[in-house]
Amino acid sequence: MHLFTWLILAFVPVTLAGLEEPTKIALRSRSLDQRGKLSRRSPKASNVPLLNYFHGTDLQWYGEVQVGTPPQTFTVVFDTGSDTFEIPGKNCTSGCSKQHIFDWDKSSTYKYIDNGDGLYLQFATGVGVTPANSSEPDWIMTMFEVSDTVSVGGLAVPNVPFYLINFQSPAFGADPFDGIMGLGTEPESFFGSLIAQGLPALFSFYLTPKSIGHAELTLGGIDHSKFKGPLVFSPVQSNSGAWTLLSAGISVNGKTTESLSQAQRFIFDTGTSNLVFPKNLTETIYALISPDIVANPVVPGTYGIPCCHLKSLPAVINFTFPSTSGKPFNLTLPSTELSVGPFASNHSLCQTVINSFDFEFDPVIGGSLLKHYYSTWDAGNKTLGFAQTKHA
Ligand SMILES: *[C@@H]1O[C@H](CO)[C@@H](O)[C@H](O)[C@H]1NC(C)=O
Ligand SMILES: *[C@@H]1O[C@H](CO)[C@@H](O)[C@H](O)[C@H]1NC(C)=O
Ligand SMILES: *[C@@H]1O[C@H](CO)[C@@H](O)[C@H](O)[C@H]1NC(C)=O
Ligand SMILES: *[C@@H]1O[C@H](CO)[C@@H](O)[C@H](O)[C@H]1NC(C)=O
Ligand SMILES: *[C@@H]1O[C@H](CO)[C@@H](O)[C@H](O)[C@H]1NC(C)=O
Ligand SMILES: *[C@@H]1O[C@H](CO)[C@@H](O)[C@H](O)[C@H]1NC(C)=O
Ligand SMILES: *[C@@H]1O[C@H](CO)[C@@H](O)[C@H](O)[C@H]1NC(C)=O
Repeated sequence: MHLFTWLILAFVPVTLAGLEEPTKIALRSRSLDQRGKLSRRSPKASNVPLLNYFHGTDLQWYGEVQVGTPPQTFTVVFDTGSDTFEIPGKNCTSGCSKQHIFDWDKSSTYKYIDNGDGLYLQFATGVGVTPANSSEPDWIMTMFEVSDTVSVGGLAVPNVPFYLINFQSPAFGADPFDGIMGLGTEPESFFGSLIAQGLPALFSFYLTPKSIGHAELTLGGIDHSKFKGPLVFSPVQSNSGAWTLLSAGISVNGKTTESLSQAQRFIFDTGTSNLVFPKNLTETIYALISPDIVANPVVPGTYGIPCCHLKSLPAVINFTFPSTSGKPFNLTLPSTELSVGPFASNHSLCQTVINSFDFEFDPVIGGSLLKHYYSTWDAGNKTLGFAQTKHA
């Protein structure tokens, strides 16, 4: 069984139809850095503007895609924690009332290609910073496979295999976006088709906080105008099925413990808002920050601290990773990320950045950390790189 993560989430593909269908490309794009040798007809790297902000958490980003002929527009989360691309179809019976839905009768290039089994996905985390419920799944979808022309950031590809959602649990209905475009380590669907046409097998994220704006996804390249200093790459762990790096250790305010000094895998997930760690790792870290951080049983999996105690509390978490050049580097979660905001059930209690989970997958690092770096996700070389953003 594979587990993948998304908006704080993992899913279990129950049936998965074949997805290959290399295609011809119509291209129009702005050019950015391009690595590797490209033939003249290969698509060029392209920037996709992203919006963020969901419920004020400043930890969620999404952008536009076009599907069909003539194009119908949808917003999706570009999610390194999942693999498939899905948007609601016009016969979605549940949880889609606020979403844009795809009307296949209005597309001349639409094809139904499902084998009749469909696909069921269960996510380990949902939108926002409230943990998913593993015992009573609250983030699920069913969908069926189709193909059509898909266009993102001016890169258009015909006959892209993807999924139309025909049921999703009510929790999805509140999303400010319509669907999810998975950008896992083994590219498929839209991005896989672009790579088959010669686009370099990498993409980059500039996930800014609201105060900075101009968040951006670059498909097939690196936007050097968005960062300073070197991009430092770390090898992605093989057989993990995800963007997983092996950390050499964690320190909190410069201090560490024996368990925190051990090697530990972390999944990097643009679809996850905050951090989602196993209970013991979560509590070991919190113990080094403040005894006032305690589990909040009202929202299982979360922790809180009286908001009035936050102000002068240092909470710098350093994650150390090996680089492909041999020199280790740190990714730093600054103290300003400790609080993700007050709980709805108690406005004087602030939720802290790490949720704990009780099911089996590697710890997940999401937007709270990613928004402090420029990141390049290289599916060809199987490396993940980070650089200081210009505004940092
Ligand atoms: C929606 O249509 C697809 C394709 O015809 C079909 O496989 C699916 O079962 C339908 N779903 C619902 C809920 O009607
Ligand atoms: C990373 O952080 C740790 C602990 O804060 C520190 O001891 C170490 O020198 C840092 N490493 C680098 C490469 O900056
Ligand atoms: C965390 O790592 C950064 C970068 O290596 C370093 O400059 C800083 O001193 C470290 N902070 C702490 C509190 O260890
Ligand atoms: C958490 O528990 C697991 C399994 O018991 C163990 O392997 C790991 O080292 C522990 N981590 C920490 C930070 O205590
Ligand atoms: C999950 O649902 C069960 C049953 O409704 C409930 O007892 C449990 O507290 C929930 N867990 C979370 C994390 O919300
Ligand atoms: C809300 O949180 C504050 C700070 O932790 C606590 O003192 C208070 O008792 C809580 N109120 C309720 C109704 O739980
Ligand atoms: C990725 O691999 C290619 C081909 O092996 C190489 O030219 C390129 O420098 C590598 N990129 C990085 C960032 O290591």
